[in-house]
Amino acid sequence: MKGSIAVIAGDGIGPEIMKSAVAVLDVVNKKFGHEFATTEALASSAAYDKYGVHLPPETIATCEKSDAILFGAVGGPVNDQESPRWKDAEKNVILGLRKHFDLFANLRPLKVWPGTEVFSTLRPEFITGMDVLIVRELVSGIYFGARERFEQNGKPAARDTSVYAWDEIERALRVGFEAAMMRKKRLTVVDKANVLETSRLWREVAREVAKDFPEVQMEFMFVDNAAMQLARAPLAFDVIVTENMFGDILSDLGGAIVGSLGLLPSASLNGKKFGLYEPSHGSAPDIAGKGVANPTAQILSLALLLRYTYGLEKEAAAIESAIQSAWKAGEKTRDLGGTLSTEEFTTAVVKCLA
Ligand code: NAI
Ligand code: MG
Repeated sequence: MKGSIAVIAGDGIGPEIMKSAVAVLDVVNKKFGHEFATTEALASSAAYDKYGVHLPPETIATCEKSDAILFGAVGGPVNDQESPRWKDAEKNVILGLRKHFDLFANLRPLKVWPGTEVFSTLRPEFITGMDVLIVRELVSGIYFGARERFEQNGKPAARDTSVYAWDEIERALRVGFEAAMMRKKRLTVVDKANVLETSRLWREVAREVAKDFPEVQMEFMFVDNAAMQLARAPLAFDVIVTENMFGDILSDLGGAIVGSLGLLPSASLNGKKFGLYEPSHGSAPDIAGKGVANPTAQILSLALLLRYTYGLEKEAAAIESAIQSAWKAGEKTRDLGGTLSTEEFTTAVVKCLA
């Protein structure tokens, strides 16, 4: 297969871990006979230094010509967020790309890989084999509705509004159903339908969409219960699909359950196979330039890209099992208790994959 991928390495450890993912892509090309080409594009500080903006039109144009975006991480040092080079860098770049490409579905696979159970906040017997996918609606709901300050009884009051249109719900649910079809065919629709009208509409739409996916076993669950079940018995879930705010909270909870930040990839999709694939962690300025970052989340983001943009399940699974083989052989970066540098671990993964 031929394809073109826009590569935005970003700040901090971004360029270090991106190098690893590109090395892995080279091996995928050779091993499976593909021709995936990469084009580098600037964003955040690198773009600011050259163009004076965090997300220049040149970068958007490169992404438009590509099938998908492989993204590193952006953001400045935590105590230097106000200088113009860093101010709103993350917001400008990520929200800018999300908006431009209408990336309405955020996918967060929460997987406990063999040998990584020790990083979980839960005891191993509760999380061994955990493999949950959260699909979060990303561009609507209460984070985007009208908000205001007003006065009530002479004191400040505030109001936020959650609005969901049928089509916005339907397209997010479809991503959930389609993902379930590629997995164990079980879908949990999370809402608060005992209280919220938007949630009742979600259920109505879900029942309609479900007719197109008769093989998928769908259930509804209230969000408070879903949080409890996810923390208590994560093995019971396959795919969870939910609105923006609930998905935000549940995916952070799920991330804590899995444990190590360096292991969590994510995908933001637009329903037309185009997507932005990035680690869930940030630019880690505290370890940037030291060559010790764990590139796993970045490499797993590449695997997601191959799986969801190109439909290449075999290649995606090969990358995932190469990482596991490396770990099994004791090849680990420091955050996982090993001693390897980013580059040494990448070499180990490349060897297992080749
Ligand atoms: P962070 O995720 O960058 O780092 C948190 C902690 O985890 C740090 O101690 C870091 O060293 C460690 N860590 C993260 N990724 C790692 C990896 N691959 N290997 C080994 N250790 C790793 O979060 P933090 O420090 O709060 O934010 C730093 C910057 O990143 C900020 O400017 C923030 O705005 C930005 N950020 C960007 C995101 C993105 O690009 N989507 C997401 C989250 C934060
Ligand atoms: Mg969050």
